[in-house]
Amino acid sequence: MVLFESVSSILPARVTAPPKGFTKPTINRAKGPWLHLTNGQQIFDAASGSGSLVLGHSDDEISEVISGQTSQITAYSGNVFKCDIVEEYANSLTEKFLPSYKKIVFASSGSDAVETALKLSIQYHRFTGNSNKHKILGRKGSYHGNTLAGLEVAGFLGRKQPYLACLPQYTKASHASCFDCPFNLIPSTCDLECATSFEDAILAEGPETIAGIVVEPIVGAAYSGAVPDSRYFSEVRRICDKYDVLMIADEVLTGFGRTGRLLAMEHWDVKPDISITGKGMGAGHFPISAVLASKKISDAFSGGGYEFQNGQTFSLSPVGAAVGNNVVRRISGSSFLENVEVLGQKLIKELKESVLPEIVSDIRGRGLMIGILLNQSHKGLLDNPGYHIETLRNIAIENGLLIYPSHGSPESKFGNHCLLLPPLNIDATHIDFIVSRFSMSVQQYLEVNGYFHD
Ligand SMILES: Cc1ncc(COP(=O)(O)O)c(C=O)c1O
Repeated sequence: MVLFESVSSILPARVTAPPKGFTKPTINRAKGPWLHLTNGQQIFDAASGSGSLVLGHSDDEISEVISGQTSQITAYSGNVFKCDIVEEYANSLTEKFLPSYKKIVFASSGSDAVETALKLSIQYHRFTGNSNKHKILGRKGSYHGNTLAGLEVAGFLGRKQPYLACLPQYTKASHASCFDCPFNLIPSTCDLECATSFEDAILAEGPETIAGIVVEPIVGAAYSGAVPDSRYFSEVRRICDKYDVLMIADEVLTGFGRTGRLLAMEHWDVKPDISITGKGMGAGHFPISAVLASKKISDAFSGGGYEFQNGQTFSLSPVGAAVGNNVVRRISGSSFLENVEVLGQKLIKELKESVLPEIVSDIRGRGLMIGILLNQSHKGLLDNPGYHIETLRNIAIENGLLIYPSHGSPESKFGNHCLLLPPLNIDATHIDFIVSRFSMSVQQYLEVNGYFHD
């Protein structure tokens, strides 16, 4: 696996624990779902650029769009001019593809879109006469990007730990995974205590200070693939309305087809006030993200001389808009999205049939966003943050499969789980490949770690 070790001028930066016994191989080419390493090895990419490559690597059509657009216009002063391709893209989103939203603020990364959404919520309340509403609350076991404000609202201790001293640390709502219910209840008899914990957090902080709450529809890196009870989001919506608190959905990972819907919140037919998208919007070929504002929010900013105090150099990118336009047209068809759901169901079913419950305790998710939780009862799992999932990841790479490991945990312990986030335009043979290489890797992991004998 080790190709060569050379000195790199890039400051090593990780959001997870350091890898054990692993030297990065070099990759210079990728096409479709395949990574081609410089040592000749070919690896199926089920991490797909942290879930961004919804149409696979090096897409020919997107390459043409990028080169066509860069020969026309690539950047402009948004304060002075309008630009057709950017206007066209924004209008197509609000009028055709995502009509629940009336205005859009573009950004570049998921993190800066989250930051923008938090600012938009605070300014919304200022403009509507509630300037004391300035806190945004989040949940345990959640991730909302890598800015200070994003880390504050998130519940991913491993990632926020170095910055705790400068974060306000508002009360967190509980996580909402039924597999390990934080209230030790089961869905058939519970009263959605996980949703009520948002109400408790709002009351503890003072409703008059709360601008919004932020949730991932399906949890990403912080607790791979955790899906809440089907009644959960309507109850959260009800609580938000009760206290004049904005409901913000962070769909940076779940949005743009990943779960088999353009936005994952459509699965529950719940309409947030603000949604945040990123990753798949530019299909991993161009960094573009967005904050989508519902009519209620948009109305507060139209007329009356109020303008959203915001702006970044790359907020209005003609190239991003051209790429986004191409991507949304290609992924929004019902047959494309249905196929994502069907392939996801096949992946979950076949994984459950082929991997050993001794090592994998939960397989969950929706569409092609599948989370796999390693059995937490294994000796040493929690004492060695990330060791097991990193080990499994390295074995899977040897077997030609890249998975996306994570160490988040709702209860502040380190978790060992991973996501499978393949490109969305794969087919059933690719699912078979993932299942066979993943289960083979789990077997080998058991041989390395000897858990059968513990
Ligand atoms: C739910 C969620 N929000 C925000 C982000 C941050 O996005 P980015 O890494 O593009 O800044 C991520 C990234 O993984 C994410 O999964």
